[in-house]
Amino acid sequence: MDRLHIIGGSPLSGRIPVSGAKNSALKLMVACLLTDQPVEFTNMPNLADTRFLAQLLETLGVEVYWPKGSSTCHLNAAELKSTIAPYEQVRKMRASFNVLGPLVARSGHATVSLPGGCAIGARPVDLHLQALEAMGADLRVEQGYVKAAAIHGLKGAHINFSTVSVGATEHAMLAATLAKGETILENAAREPEIEDLAHCLNTMGAQITGAGTPIIRIKGAESLKGTTYPVMPDRIEAGTFAMAAAAAGGDVTLEGAPVAALGAMIAKLREAGVTVDADEAAATLRIRRNGTPLKAVSLSTQPHPGFPTDLQAQFMALMTLANGTSIIRETIFENRFMHAPELARLGADITVRGQEAVVKGVAQLTGAPVMATDLRASVSLVIAGLAAQGETIVNRIYHLDRGFERLEEKLGNCGARIERRSGEEE
Ligand code: EPZ
Repeated sequence: MDRLHIIGGSPLSGRIPVSGAKNSALKLMVACLLTDQPVEFTNMPNLADTRFLAQLLETLGVEVYWPKGSSTCHLNAAELKSTIAPYEQVRKMRASFNVLGPLVARSGHATVSLPGGCAIGARPVDLHLQALEAMGADLRVEQGYVKAAAIHGLKGAHINFSTVSVGATEHAMLAATLAKGETILENAAREPEIEDLAHCLNTMGAQITGAGTPIIRIKGAESLKGTTYPVMPDRIEAGTFAMAAAAAGGDVTLEGAPVAALGAMIAKLREAGVTVDADEAAATLRIRRNGTPLKAVSLSTQPHPGFPTDLQAQFMALMTLANGTSIIRETIFENRFMHAPELARLGADITVRGQEAVVKGVAQLTGAPVMATDLRASVSLVIAGLAAQGETIVNRIYHLDRGFERLEEKLGNCGARIERRSGEEE
């Protein structure tokens, strides 16, 4: 099992290229199921999760050509040989569940395992299922699997989501592209990845308007065609490096950053006293902090354009070193503070009260062995480790490999002392 050894306490300086967005790539890849023509994605992040989804697509009959290390991935779903996504695959990576709608839309039926719970919350899929049912799919849940059929195809529907859900919005949008008639999604999520998916689907011949607003309209098409499409840059990766630079201090420029998608995070960093130069045209974000103390800042996670839950753990790591007390509220997932006790092992003063964490800033963190619990929690420990005095060992970094491409290399190029080692946990 791999772990990261970090010697913290030195500032970061340099340039970091931002990779393609995991959470966009995973939905774009699924879109290949909607056409019998080849699709090609550039700027594809090489991650455990994207590679894993490629394997699932292969088991469904998709031809995958994605050489190791390449950022271009070719997918061809000319013929599907299976419409079954097994438990083993969906359990390990929840985004696999999104093959259900496209498979039903294309083939008229599918059997996909329910994903089950997750470390950060229950994460039900009721909204996904309600949307597909509204589009005329006949659904049965048997032995942990959703069996869906729409022999005469899906039909357009008016769907008003009771909760804002990124996954359900994307899932319904994917399925609706091949439905008969118009689908209207109300109370849709507005995350940039949803706009990215809509843009891509439109290049495939779909007719989607309103993505990025709470009302999305999709006019169903007879068929979709192939495309070549660049995956948008990863706003969560960019935000993570921004917070690493803010916590460790120094001067880091993020290249190819989705600046417009990071408004809430940039505002919070500035409130905390970090200098942020954001250049949307050049797609750069320069983060500087040279000895200026950090101010405590409170926040609540919110659906986009609010502060993203996927940056909450990283912001908490930063706030452990601020002057004063910050209150961090998690409103999206019910169990997303697992990093708090691990940060406490480095000397952070955090009290969790239900959905709120009270973070009292300390003058210094000190290195210690810690354990990663999920993707974003893990990277918050890396940020804290970079700012802490002495050695931090982050165990179980397979979580990190799910969503961060060449993390040690990118940080190492900015002077971070960070090294991956294999073997027993420490
Ligand atoms: C996506 O998850 C992301 N994952 C998450 O990133 C991200 O944290 C989340 O959106 C919120 O931004 C991917 O894109 C692969 P939701 P998703 O549906 O779509 C409830 C990461 O670290 N809900 O917007 O699953 C749900 O329980 C991951 O990269 C229902 O009640 O999130 C949650 O409380 C973690 N019923 C809320 O809605 C449903 O049917 C928002 O979840 C669906 C969701």
